[in-house]
Amino acid sequence: MAAQLVVALLAFTSLSVASELDCKELVKPLVLDSHSPIYGKWVLHVGSWDKPGLKSDLLSVNSSWVELSPSSDSGVITIYWADRLKDDKCLHGPANATISGTTSHTTFIINGHTSYHDGKYYETCSDCLLSEDTTLLPDGKSKGRYLFLFTRTGSLEPSELDVFKKQAECLEFLPEYHFGSTHLCPDERESSAVKNTESDQTETEEEKEDTAQ
Ligand SMILES: *[C@@H]1O[C@H](CO)[C@@H](O)[C@H](O)[C@H]1NC(C)=O
Ligand SMILES: *[C@@H]1O[C@H](CO)[C@@H](O)[C@H](O)[C@H]1NC(C)=O
Repeated sequence: MAAQLVVALLAFTSLSVASELDCKELVKPLVLDSHSPIYGKWVLHVGSWDKPGLKSDLLSVNSSWVELSPSSDSGVITIYWADRLKDDKCLHGPANATISGTTSHTTFIINGHTSYHDGKYYETCSDCLLSEDTTLLPDGKSKGRYLFLFTRTGSLEPSELDVFKKQAECLEFLPEYHFGSTHLCPDERESSAVKNTESDQTETEEEKEDTAQ
């Protein structure tokens, strides 16, 4: 009898928590097209994950920035990303994302290794980018999801962080967060092509597979 009561109370509690959050209002996927408010350069402020096994990959990242640009093909977004790892190495590279409706699909080919990601973007604070990244295994099954909040400068108001945490709860992420620093990797795109063949990059590129967004 007591056990049944506990179960009933738990059910009631989780129901009332869920209804305190108006998830329909909080979580609105963006339709992706050339007018979507996702373009430009973004600096990672905070990330969350939905499986404990994903935590260490994100914690290996000190800072991250990404630039999204529309391409001449309306179904393709051009991506450039740069991550600074804890050991101070910078990893960076281009990628193309194909979009269909509210989902983007990105293939990273790094040193002959291929990493697949599905992305969704949600309405968020102004000058913010809220991105849900599902890492796919080669068979197409999900390895898990990250939720990333990027801003233009890397900083965020406390009230905006509270909204992010509620959105993460609605999307069933763990209530754990990793905050990025603003010690960003430089933009290497304008430096000479010789840079891309520097040997110190090749040894760490496999790690990138796991931190790629
Ligand atoms: C990033 O690195 C800086 C400088 O080493 C350090 O102060 C900061 O705590 C690090 N932050 C993260 C999130 O790793
Ligand atoms: C992105 O697509 C363009 C056009 O098809 C292609 O030239 C470029 O190599 C692609 N970039 C990557 C990183 O796949």
